[in-house]
Amino acid sequence: MKTKELVLNELVKYLNQNISGEILAKSLNLSRTAIWKAIHELINDGYEISSATNKGYCLHMPWRLSKEVIEYFLSEKTPIKHVKFKETTDSTQNDAKRFSLNNKKEVLILSDHQTAGKGRFGRAYFTPAQKGFYMSLLIFPKKTFLEISQYTLLTAVAVVRAIENLTDKRPLIKWINDIYLNDKKICGILSEAVTDVESNQITSVIIGIGLNFSISQEEFPKELQKKATSLFADTKPSISRNELIVEIWKQFYQLMATDFIEIYRQHSFVLGKQVSFVEENKTYQGVARQITDAGQLEVLLNDGNLKSLSAGEISLKSIKARSVPSSE
Ligand code: BTN
Repeated sequence: MKTKELVLNELVKYLNQNISGEILAKSLNLSRTAIWKAIHELINDGYEISSATNKGYCLHMPWRLSKEVIEYFLSEKTPIKHVKFKETTDSTQNDAKRFSLNNKKEVLILSDHQTAGKGRFGRAYFTPAQKGFYMSLLIFPKKTFLEISQYTLLTAVAVVRAIENLTDKRPLIKWINDIYLNDKKICGILSEAVTDVESNQITSVIIGIGLNFSISQEEFPKELQKKATSLFADTKPSISRNELIVEIWKQFYQLMATDFIEIYRQHSFVLGKQVSFVEENKTYQGVARQITDAGQLEVLLNDGNLKSLSAGEISLKSIKARSVPSSE
């Protein structure tokens, strides 16, 4: 490991606090000049490190994505012990798949920019540089294929909870796994599983999250401007992307053991609303009535029939803001 990386790893442990050059030098077994040099290299790399006589150095929460900060806090607060960071990549989902071929350890792959971001149903996903974050968690749960939709629901709940905990924003979940703010999408989730055909057991699951963090409305491509927005589209971010990433995975593991489906329902953007969807080229309309424990969306069709929608089978085309009277 390079000296500057050693120093950064040490500074992260004292984030937003002062640590003297002497203590840093002693704990890393380096000279104070080497520490001073490394600090300057880190400042040149964009890290904000203040220094004061008799107080030492202080690393402030970086605005840039920092593998070191994220890995340190995730290791403290979650079972995730390894983070891989790529400035740019085709897709973190692909990275996680490639990694899983030769490694059986859990890892979070994080990127600042994707050149071929993937959405559900094979769609492209808009992932501009430095304005969002794109990450894929590779895990090896002992679950069957049918149980995997739980991860999608759990991830959506973790994202909204993390945003609520750190900001004054109140995002909602559009079934099954889009996060909405001000009636526009700010985050998409893509869960993919590799299954052993014989045992029907999952060998690995990759949970991908792409979040629009601070993209102004004009920065979205024309065709997305009415559909998508970002968490901080018109204000300066009040938190760093690093904090939000750590909070999302902290919530993910904390909520795993709770009745997260109930929280999911409470944050639903669709329940009680008129929805329309396409199945086998036929358009249906009705009112979204319930989300079952297995994550199915029950829609009371306008012709009186009840339809249960499973993730992956249909795509919701529109949601009208008209709520159903509670007596219905
Ligand atoms: C969707 O809304 O359809 C799902 C979008 C998922 C995007 C994320 S970004 C990180 C990971 N890498 C990808 O290529 N896709 C997922």
